[in-house]
Parts: sequence; C-alpha cells; structure tokens
Amino acid sequence: MRRGSWASRFSFYLLAVGSACGLGNIWRFPHVVGENGGGAFLLLYIFLAFTVGLSILVAELIMGRSGEHGILKISRLVSVQQKKPFYWFGRLSLLISVVILAYYSVISGWVLHYLTQFLVGLFNEDRLTYISSIDMTALKNSGSLQFALASVHLLLCGLVVARGVVERFEKIFTRMLPILVILFIILVMRSFSLDTTSDVLRFLFYPDFSKLNLSSLGRAIGHVFFTLSLGMGIMVTYGSYFKDNEHLPSVGFRVTVIDTIVSIMALLLIFPIAFLSESNHYFTDPALLFGSLPRLFVKIPYGEFFGLLFFLCLWLAAVNASIGLMEALVANLKDKYSKVSRNQATLLATIGVLFITIIPAYSGTLFSKLKVFNQSVIENLDSVLINYLLPIAGLGLIIIFFKSLNDTDRRGKFIDAKGKNSQAMYHHWVWVLKWFSPALIILAIALQLINLIK
Ligand code: PHE
Repeated sequence: MRRGSWASRFSFYLLAVGSACGLGNIWRFPHVVGENGGGAFLLLYIFLAFTVGLSILVAELIMGRSGEHGILKISRLVSVQQKKPFYWFGRLSLLISVVILAYYSVISGWVLHYLTQFLVGLFNEDRLTYISSIDMTALKNSGSLQFALASVHLLLCGLVVARGVVERFEKIFTRMLPILVILFIILVMRSFSLDTTSDVLRFLFYPDFSKLNLSSLGRAIGHVFFTLSLGMGIMVTYGSYFKDNEHLPSVGFRVTVIDTIVSIMALLLIFPIAFLSESNHYFTDPALLFGSLPRLFVKIPYGEFFGLLFFLCLWLAAVNASIGLMEALVANLKDKYSKVSRNQATLLATIGVLFITIIPAYSGTLFSKLKVFNQSVIENLDSVLINYLLPIAGLGLIIIFFKSLNDTDRRGKFIDAKGKNSQAMYHHWVWVLKWFSPALIILAIALQLINLIK
C-alpha cells in the first residue's frame, strides 16, 4: 500500500488531478456538450461541477483521510456500527469502478489505434494523404481489434500497478505534462484561427435554454461524476494518502478548477474543426474527437508529429487515469482480503476487468443486433453507468459520509485553522452536501426516467 509514501505535496495534487483529467475531458465532454445543444448545457455543467461535484469530492477526500481505508472497508464499518446493510453502497461503487475501467480501456484502445496510425503515417511516402485517411472504420468493423488494443492498455496498467512502479510512471508522466499543456495551447490557438470561430463562440457561450431537455440535468450530473472520478471511491482512496496538514477543501477546489479549464479548452479545440463539417449529427457522435483532430493536423506544418505527440500524451493521460482506478481497486481488494498479495490482487483485477471488456469491445460487431432504446451496447453502458449508476453511488457515498463522521470530525477536517473563510464555508458545504446535491441527483434521475418512457 502506498499510503503516506509520497514525499512531495505536488505529487499528491498530481494524483488527484491526474485521475480527474483524462478522456472524460477531452473525448467525452465535447460530444456530450454537442448532444445537449452547447452553451446552456455548458453553464449548467459548470454550476453543477462547483456545487454537486465539488461538495462530493471534498466529502470523499475527507472520508478517506479520516477512515484511512478504501470505500469498501469504510462502508462495512458503518454497516456494523449502524446494523444496517450500508456495505451495499461500497460494493456498488466498486462494481461500477470495475465496469468503468473496462469501458475506459476500450476508449483508450481507440486512442492507441490513432497513435499507431500516426506512427505508421510517419513512414509513409505520402504522409498527408495517409493522415487524412485515418478514421474509425477499421475500429468500428473489428471487435477483435478493439479488444486487442484494450487488452494491451489494461495489461500495461496492470503491470505498472503490480510492479509497484506507479511512482516511476508518474514521474515520466509529470515530465510529459508541460509538453501536453504547451501542445494543447498551440493546438487550441491553431484551431481557433479557423474561420468557424465566431459560430463556435456563439454555440458555446451564448446559452439557448430551449436546447435543454428533460435528460440534460442527468447528463450534466453524470458527466460531473465521471470527469471528477466521483462515486467510485477513488478519491476516498486518494484522501487516505494525503498528509494531515493538507487542507482538503482547497485541494478539491483546485482539482475542480483545473478539470473544468481542461474541459473548456477541449471544447475550444474540437468544435472549430467540427464546425467545418456540414453535418450537424457529427457533433453528437462519440467519434467527434477522433473524427475532427486528424483534419486539423493535416492543415498544420509538421502536423504528423503534432498528431503523434498529441495522441501519445492523450494515451499517457488515459493510462494515468486507468492506473488510478486499478490502484483503488487493488487497495480495496487488499483491505478486504488481507492475505492476498499485491500482485495477486492486481492479477485478479486485471483478468476480471479484461473479461468485462469483451462487451464494449464487441458492441459494434458481435453484439450489434443487441439494441435497447435504439442504442448500441456501448452507448447503453455509457449511459447507464455514468448517467444513472454513478450518481446513485454518489448518494450512497453521501449517506456513508454522514454516518461515518460526526459533526466534530467533519468540522475538524474541513476547517483550516489559519483560514477565516473556511468556518463560514463549512455550513454552506454541509448544506449543499446534505440537501442540495441529493435533491438534484434524485431530480435528475427522475427526469431522465420520465424522458425515457415518454
Ligand atoms: N475522470 C477521468 C476522466 O475524466 C475518468 C475516470 C473516471 C478516471 C473514473 C478514473 C475513474 O477521464
């Protein structure tokens, strides 16, 4: 267990930021915003990230630090104390994290595919033609390719976790981070100089509330959970790593700010390119990121290198987020079965997740006939997991939080002795966490269900 093994304060931050920033921001967010009509949804999302998301993020971190265990064990302890089956919430969180890791691995496999395509493109005589022909067709038509790529991704993450070289990986990742940031800024600037900019700005920052529908609230809350890695007990596990002198509410706030900035930058990167296309349907497609970016790289001098570097960084970010998920899984397994070694726990987690990966990987081929509500398996998986189950698990976490810590404990962990504001903030936070967030989550789920049967 890595608890307390990090020396520098910076690396603790990196851990939480690294888990939050990933494919959720860069791949998922743009097409969810596209699907829900742009500006109004973006406003709703930002509001929810800083209310529902931030309040739960801080609660998870505080719960981890106080409990010094993963979510599974904390929920079991609460169950014993209260003599009620609260451990189901812990189990639900863990179950979701297993399936999310499987799903996340398939999408990471897509990134890996683009990365290899750009690599192959470098050795091609006519690079530009090659790059412009890179698309999703090969992936869409082959479940085996998707499964193979997802397996490579997962096995690599498993290897890093089992070998206990997570810290070394994170050091490499930290070194890559400035490159990623600079690359990201250059690409956003380039994308912004396309002549679609004014349309994009109108679409993103001129809210048209008539575009929202009954399911928008649920979509926004679901994405807040996903992008901040909430509801799965990840942040609980991280909270147990933080040192006692770290002010957790400030950590939570900074993580939310950084995550939101990255998400908005991703919109500014993707939409100017997407708007070049005539078809509106394209904005709402999960393939939005993959479809747009190569079109930008073709326009840039040395675009093939930019493309390669971009997908490399994106993949490393995905590896980093996946490692976090797997670490939390392994930590929870070890909490429960103390005799199991770290290697065995990792092997168990990797094989289990690999098995589930089959379902999203073959969604477009083997399981293509399996459609519910006119959606494919992978689309349903995304929707059920992220829009329904994660928020429900979030409700469970809130309950466990209030049951496991009394007011004095909560206050002690929240209030910063030096900061005057945190005293006042404490009451707001408890109110949002206890009433506002649960009410919105329940409302969101109800509205989505109504929309479904309507
Ligand atoms: N938050 C990550 C992202 O935005 C996804 C993730 C979810 C990672 C859950 C870990 C756990 O990409």
